[in-house]
Amino acid sequence: MRLPGLIDVHVHMREPGGTHKEDWDSGTAAALAGGFTAVLAMPNTQPAITDVSTLAASLDAARAKARCDYGQYLGAGPDNVAGAAALAGRVPGLKMYLDQTYGPLRLDDMTLWMAHCAHWPRHAPIVAHAEGRTLAAIILLAALYDRPVHLAHVSRREEILLIRAAKQRGLQVTCETTPHHLFLSDQDLPRLAAGRGEVRPRLATPADRQALWDNLDVIDCFATDHAPHTAAEKDGPNPPPGFPGLETALPLLLTAMAEGRLTADDLIARLVTNPRRIFGLPAQPDTWIEVDEAAAWEIRGVELHSRCGWTPFEGWRVRGRPRRVILRGHEAYRDGHILARPGTGKNLFEGA
Ligand code: DOR
Ligand code: ZN
Repeated sequence: MRLPGLIDVHVHMREPGGTHKEDWDSGTAAALAGGFTAVLAMPNTQPAITDVSTLAASLDAARAKARCDYGQYLGAGPDNVAGAAALAGRVPGLKMYLDQTYGPLRLDDMTLWMAHCAHWPRHAPIVAHAEGRTLAAIILLAALYDRPVHLAHVSRREEILLIRAAKQRGLQVTCETTPHHLFLSDQDLPRLAAGRGEVRPRLATPADRQALWDNLDVIDCFATDHAPHTAAEKDGPNPPPGFPGLETALPLLLTAMAEGRLTADDLIARLVTNPRRIFGLPAQPDTWIEVDEAAAWEIRGVELHSRCGWTPFEGWRVRGRPRRVILRGHEAYRDGHILARPGTGKNLFEGA
């Protein structure tokens, strides 16, 4: 089966500051191996991407090393309300961390949320990490400021029901959910060694997970929240939250398709069409992937291209695998081999 190149609107590339976990090279290799031809990178690096010089540093690294196309988000901080807004044309969106997360970008002061909502240009989305009642608060701000807000990694029943109600009222909210919230729950925690189960938002209950499937029509995007940390870090005394996801997302979703839980159209809408529309991404010409939907195989962390070397789906038997990736006319991946060289990826917001 041929599909368009997939777009992941939520990945962590860890460069600068965490390149032992991932960098623009290994992260985009993982993307291609997973069937993704474009990734949008989060700003919670060290230092965080919040101004013109940190943005330039990340984009310089990406220009030299990325093997697939990309965009780099800006992070909302306490001091960059005007500065961030001035850079809006060069990024896919502004990320606001309103709940517990990894890195220094968490914003607790609600007057700062209001300031960013007022200043960030209306045509570009604000992406919010908001859970539970915080999600209700940011939906209110989307309404008050009459602006688009994209809700990252929705994981709970109360959240998806709230988003449904907001959409019914015509508010400009869109949302994504992750494969790990669609396929795992807190029942998997005993199987995952303690630190390996840490992720934000946390794995939720089976009822929450079922609510995501039951409200699939409300979910605009599937996004991996690819958040690599090394196995040693996950098994250590202070395990950081986060799962790798780029190389397991499509096989898991294709398996759900084989089981009749999803259609190919559902998949294309949430991995290509909606991401492109919500974030204003240009089309990638001559770009597609070839998928063997019948291939049955077992997920193994050691075989992944991500530098982190582990996966919460270790040993899962799945059905469906990307075989080839063609990016702008060039073969970028074939059967386990990354063919695109570092630096061949394009900034989707260059010259925008
Ligand atoms: O689990 C998570 N990992 N949640 C976040 O919000 C951040 C991410 C990371 O950067 O590791
Ligand atoms: Zn994230």
